[in-house]
Amino acid sequence: MHPMLNIAIRAARSAGNIIIRSLQHVEHLEVTTKGRNDFVTDVDRLAEQEIISVIHKSYPDHAILAEESGEQGDSETIWIIDPLDGTANFLHGFPHYCVSIGVMVRGRIEHGVIYDPLRDELFTASRGAGAQLNDRRLRVTKQKTLAGSLISTGFPFKYHEHFPAYLATFNAVFPEVSDLRRGGSAALDLAYVAAGRVDAYWELGLQKWDLAAGVLLIEEAGGVVSDFTGGENHIEHGNLVAGNFNIHQQLLNQIKPHLSEALKK
Ligand code: IPD
Ligand code: CA
Ligand code: CA
Repeated sequence: MHPMLNIAIRAARSAGNIIIRSLQHVEHLEVTTKGRNDFVTDVDRLAEQEIISVIHKSYPDHAILAEESGEQGDSETIWIIDPLDGTANFLHGFPHYCVSIGVMVRGRIEHGVIYDPLRDELFTASRGAGAQLNDRRLRVTKQKTLAGSLISTGFPFKYHEHFPAYLATFNAVFPEVSDLRRGGSAALDLAYVAAGRVDAYWELGLQKWDLAAGVLLIEEAGGVVSDFTGGENHIEHGNLVAGNFNIHQQLLNQIKPHLSEALKK
């Protein structure tokens, strides 16, 4: 295992422990609002500090891009961190959230870890070395058609201005597929595509920390990820379609015609 993946795993597990311990007093947590429907707690911040401290013990010179504390340092290696993806689920006791850590080297994601502390599921990937769930090799599904497929998505609950565009994509996709899921954790949604638990996924308006680790997991599990034009700006722009080769293409075909110019990237 690559030493950076090893450290990412250590950091993610350690953050997961903080999240689990906090469950005993979740109703007393102070919740701060960062933006519309966008909340943060001390658990997010503590988990993030723990991840950064584990990384910096081994790699003091590496840069950080973390959801709660922003950018730190200047290096060709950037650790991209979402300490708690699915904060709204966490706050409501809806058992579906995770820690996500991606390592970008010279603009390319090289390692990724997504850790679900409730189920003790550890999703890992290093470029060229495949994707694993708790040491079991992951593959995307072999589903060939939208008919019969299970697709996950995310609602733009923080960006109501995207709602009409999103609803147009929903209307185009829903009649074609078997059913849709909205889990509330973009990083876990991506991990579940890699694990073959859903056939594909789409969402718009995501941030780098939501995506970095999950994108690599899917690619290493044999899947395809793109932006809404089929191009490669998904990490930069946060609009993303992911799935196995066939379903990715068919989903993209459904979504593409329904997006406003602003979202065509
Ligand atoms: C959110 C979750 C959610 C997605 C949002 C993200 P957070 O992350 O991933 O599923 O729809 O766009 O912001 O705020 O819980 O870390
Ligand atoms: Ca997130
Ligand atoms: Ca978060």
